[in-house]
Amino acid sequence: MTVLEEQKELDPEQLMAFVFRAVGEVGATLNTALVVMGDKLGLYRALAGAGPLTPGELAKRAGVSERYVREWLNAQAAGDFVDYDPDTARYTLRPEQAVALTDESSPAYLPGLFQIALGSVLDSPRISEAARTGAGIGWHDHVSDVHEGCERFFRPGYNANLVSSWLPALDGVIEKLERGASAADVGCGHGASTILMAQAFPNSTFVGSDYHSGSIAVARKRAEEAGVSDRVSFEIAPAADYSGDGYDLVTMFDCLHDMGDPIGAARHVLASLAPEGTWLIVEPAAGDRVEDNLNPVGRAFYGFSTLLCTPSSLAQEVGLALGAQAGEARIRDVVTTAGFTRFRRAAETPFNAVFEVRR
Ligand SMILES: C[S@@+](CC[C@H](N)C(=O)[O-])C[C@H]1O[C@@H](n2cnc3c(N)ncnc32)[C@H](O)[C@@H]1O
Repeated sequence: MTVLEEQKELDPEQLMAFVFRAVGEVGATLNTALVVMGDKLGLYRALAGAGPLTPGELAKRAGVSERYVREWLNAQAAGDFVDYDPDTARYTLRPEQAVALTDESSPAYLPGLFQIALGSVLDSPRISEAARTGAGIGWHDHVSDVHEGCERFFRPGYNANLVSSWLPALDGVIEKLERGASAADVGCGHGASTILMAQAFPNSTFVGSDYHSGSIAVARKRAEEAGVSDRVSFEIAPAADYSGDGYDLVTMFDCLHDMGDPIGAARHVLASLAPEGTWLIVEPAAGDRVEDNLNPVGRAFYGFSTLLCTPSSLAQEVGLALGAQAGEARIRDVVTTAGFTRFRRAAETPFNAVFEVRR
């Protein structure tokens, strides 16, 4: 069939429906930058709980140019991120939007997700070039919005789940941590999970490690600020070579699939655990089959996986590139290949799968 004949077969309604859906996608892409802008400039915080405001009033409260604020507000209103009242020409942030956009203690807190998405998009020209050859781009090699956004995105979920439901879902781990245990948090990034565990279990000691020196510097600072530096130490080390042994607990939060050699890392976990020790793996929620993940959460994770996780793994030795949607069967395969015999799904959230691994 020629191109002309093919065009005659086209359903014009379906074509226009797709074009309009794509326009919505462009608006959403731009809104990633606009949400980060609103967060950085304090616009959401100035709107939250303030009642209906004019652009001038918001500009004054936030100390930002009124002309920019007006345009930004209209984009936010068009995307249903704020409400607009044409009778008063005022804009309001609904309470639910205020929580999601300003309350760092809420598990629904969103700015970190937008910030890591923006960082990923900013780095995408280099990812496109790498994709020509299959070269990798390491986690350390991204703009700081990726590292900062990652911490700000994950921390609310850890606050909401780690101590209250994920650790209690592991056999006997809470009792050990309460009595006084030693734990290693591998691929810890800025140390949000390490510090949270240290705060919850004052009798235990924690060693956070990550191959990225910039992340470890931030983690050390965070531990100082949280007043837990006496029981938490951080080291720059790849997962296959962190220090110490006889650990009661080893944890990996959203990092196993980023590693080039997750099986090598798993072997090191096996060697570093106490005989009755437990390995906690938290991974992005995913089904085993592509079709299980063709939904909004899977879409976001496949996007991050293309721009961050897969290049991260490909930049390292072995370059297994599990991807962020590897699914339970592949994670099980990694840990059993390394020599572990017990593997089970201990907990889950809409965004995370939590696995307990033992000898
Ligand atoms: C998505 S981030 C998660 C960071 C942290 N666990 C959190 O939950 O906020 C992935 C982390 O894995 C680290 N990473 C990747 N490959 C690694 C390796 N081979 N050894 C140690 N850390 C690694 C990266 O530097 C990054 O900090």
